[in-house]
Amino acid sequence: MPLDISLIQRLRPYQRLHYSPTIDSTMNEAARLASSGAPHGTVVLADEQTSGVGRLGRSWISERDVGLYCSIVLRLRVRAEELPVVTLALGLATVDAIQTSSDTACDLRWPNDVLIHERKVAGILAQLLEGSIIAGIGINVNQTAMPEHLRTPATSLRLETGRVHSRETLLTNLLESAEALCSVLTAEGAQSIIRAFCEASTYAVDRRIIIEDTGQKGITEGIDENGYLLMRADNGRLERIATGGIRPDHLFAQA
Ligand code: BTN
Repeated sequence: MPLDISLIQRLRPYQRLHYSPTIDSTMNEAARLASSGAPHGTVVLADEQTSGVGRLGRSWISERDVGLYCSIVLRLRVRAEELPVVTLALGLATVDAIQTSSDTACDLRWPNDVLIHERKVAGILAQLLEGSIIAGIGINVNQTAMPEHLRTPATSLRLETGRVHSRETLLTNLLESAEALCSVLTAEGAQSIIRAFCEASTYAVDRRIIIEDTGQKGITEGIDENGYLLMRADNGRLERIATGGIRPDHLFAQA
């Protein structure tokens, strides 16, 4: 079933919602709206994306009516260097929303993966655009199967819980948590978000990982003030990881 936009609008009366049944990517529409002056909190929603985008130029599979595909225009007083912290804040908001609406606990893997049992259930994409931030959030909600052979195995809330979930309730909780965490970021600063992320993520501290791009291995030592991951590499050097992705070092865990 398509999203019930009038229900969402009743639950979030002050939120500006732009809905399309099908769109190329909500990121494009949100960028277009932001360029023409759309205010903070403008939300773009779709039931299906034909060219959903993920981080690092990857695609985001966006099957009709079963996932949540949303982009939010954010006009926050944060420094451009703090964009990664915005991604962390939105990851926390997504975990909160999933917990509240489906009573399901998630893990966070720096920088943008929301995981259940090591499978990806949601992803965050934050892009800077002329002083605004376009925050894209994709959540796998009611899919009954996920494609095999993805870089990170994927799952959905339905696959994890055996129940169908209301996308309207999830979205309403997501918009509420995103607003709350953006307020924490602007009122208390990046350190509050980084602290909360480190508490919520099993990957942030003391976890053996591999850096995807380089194959370098080490143990995580937290997140720096700009939201970059710190890793004590096996050669003893402290590495600051700004881009790319990480994986658990399973081989080490089995040794
Ligand atoms: C990632 O994990 O790589 C980020 C995925 C972000 C996907 C969302 S779905 C809504 C918005 N529109 C897009 O095309 N991408 C983001």
